[in-house]
Amino acid sequence: MTHPQLEPSAPALLPRPAVHSVDEFVLSVPDLERARHFYASFGLDVRDDAGALALHTHGHPHRWARVLQGKGGPKRLEWISLGIYEQDLARFAALLQERGIPTAAVPEGADPSGLWLQGPDALPIQLRVAAKVSPQAPGPRESAPAPANIGRAPSRSTAPATRPLYLSHILLFTADVAQALDFYTGVLGLQLSDQSAGIIAFLHTPHGSDHHLIAFAKSNAGGLHHSSWCVPSLDAVGIGAQQMANAGYPDGWGLGRHVLGSNYFRYVRDPWGSFAEYSYDIDYIASQAQWPAADHPPEDSLYVWGPDVPQDFIVNHELPRP
Ligand SMILES: [Fe+2]
Repeated sequence: MTHPQLEPSAPALLPRPAVHSVDEFVLSVPDLERARHFYASFGLDVRDDAGALALHTHGHPHRWARVLQGKGGPKRLEWISLGIYEQDLARFAALLQERGIPTAAVPEGADPSGLWLQGPDALPIQLRVAAKVSPQAPGPRESAPAPANIGRAPSRSTAPATRPLYLSHILLFTADVAQALDFYTGVLGLQLSDQSAGIIAFLHTPHGSDHHLIAFAKSNAGGLHHSSWCVPSLDAVGIGAQQMANAGYPDGWGLGRHVLGSNYFRYVRDPWGSFAEYSYDIDYIASQAQWPAADHPPEDSLYVWGPDVPQDFIVNHELPRP
């Protein structure tokens, strides 16, 4: 399996500074060992990291996420670190000051570098200079060779376990989708891909990313709805669903196909009511491409086909931040 190369060349200097990657998301959970079992079963490379868990994908150098031991409450998205280019650091600093964006205190255990600001729903956001880890090209699409007179399906006895290649996107809850959209486009430089106004919005980076790098869904407060991980085939989605059911995680949604983003999906419910998604064949929006952003009817906001949406799919289990 392949993974996207880290940014190999000088980035484009766009008219406005823009985030290029979700460098890392950090959540806290009630039980680290349950988290270790869940994410390792999902196919991630879970490592111990200074009393927390670090989530890597096998064979890829980047740390995509950390899971911290919570302090007694429900799970919580603690902060997100968004990758920016060095050339945008001073431009962002000036923009944040000009717009009067409040700074955020550096959370315990976080890297203090770059700029810390308070985003919508009081989420601490770090803008840090980092290599671009969002994909530089569409994800791989493995298809079986089709020689004559040979069955093309993998064998159940030999099919490899699913191991995601990289983080595709995160979907966050927000109390106000329009306000989040304004902030992440107007301040952080992301661009709208598609939306169902007021319900859900999908954003990409003008430096090139999947159809959504960050998306927002309407709730009463902030929180992490799901993290989404690229896999290279529809078989990998199905095999992943099966390996998670066998590991004790049969609940979720899918297989199905999204309209907005076009990806095939299986969402697996984690022990805290959020989800990890296996995603195959999501639309890709190249650097500085013009995507025809549109407002879609709510019935198109979730899926083309698949099982009925589970009752608990859009439930935010996190508490509002003060
Ligand atoms: Fe997703």
